[in-house]
Amino acid sequence: MNFKILQYKELESTNDKANEIIDDENDFCNKVIFTFYQSKGRGAGSNSWYSSAGKNLLFSIIICPEIEVRQQFFISKLTSLAIIEYFKQKSISAKIKWPNDTLVNNKKISGILIENSITGNKLNSSIIGIGLNLNETVFPETLHATSVKLEKQKEFELLKELNNFLKIYEKRFNLCKNKSFALLDKEYFENLYGTDKYLTYKDKEDIFEAIVKGIDNYGRLILKDTTGKERIYMFKEVELLNYE
Ligand code: BTN
Repeated sequence: MNFKILQYKELESTNDKANEIIDDENDFCNKVIFTFYQSKGRGAGSNSWYSSAGKNLLFSIIICPEIEVRQQFFISKLTSLAIIEYFKQKSISAKIKWPNDTLVNNKKISGILIENSITGNKLNSSIIGIGLNLNETVFPETLHATSVKLEKQKEFELLKELNNFLKIYEKRFNLCKNKSFALLDKEYFENLYGTDKYLTYKDKEDIFEAIVKGIDNYGRLILKDTTGKERIYMFKEVELLNYE
């Protein structure tokens, strides 16, 4: 599999462009939509994605993974692990904040926005939108963000870095294709944030301290609070309040 990179100077959102390509073309698998600037970059939920022009990696990979709907969280797992490996190659130690964020020194360095299209119980295609802070040096304070440049005091070339990342991604994707799910599970847990200390979380009922016990087969977060009670959450049902 070789990814084909489609490069744009500016787009509203690479995920939106990927959706258009899937609607309009037959041959959409393994295409990567890359842009230097997004005017309507989308984050998780109703958030927008912050990035100045030409500073960061903004791209969407379209894959056709042939897995079942109930296995779809593996796409997120393999993507997070590829991002962790990419940072490792730069001697940056990163952690996965469930479900789709990557943290370095407790600050967000990248985010993933996955959009799946489903036929029956199979995944038809998956758009994996990745925003990775590369050369940005000033962020709005509320974002608690960092970048590779802030961590390494060095500038990086966008397209070279995209190609480096895609090589790592392809290797990871093959693991998923060969259904090495147990290995992915193990590695994902090892790189998860909050497994070694109690942190403060908020759900719709209360604020509590808890430690991450794992992720279940549906991709839900399993927390154990200070009374020993297990609490299981879907995305958006729980929020981490402190990053320490
Ligand atoms: C998050 O909120 O953490 C997810 C952020 C995802 C941002 C990326 S940037 C490239 C792709 N296109 C978008 O509009 N969003 C994703």
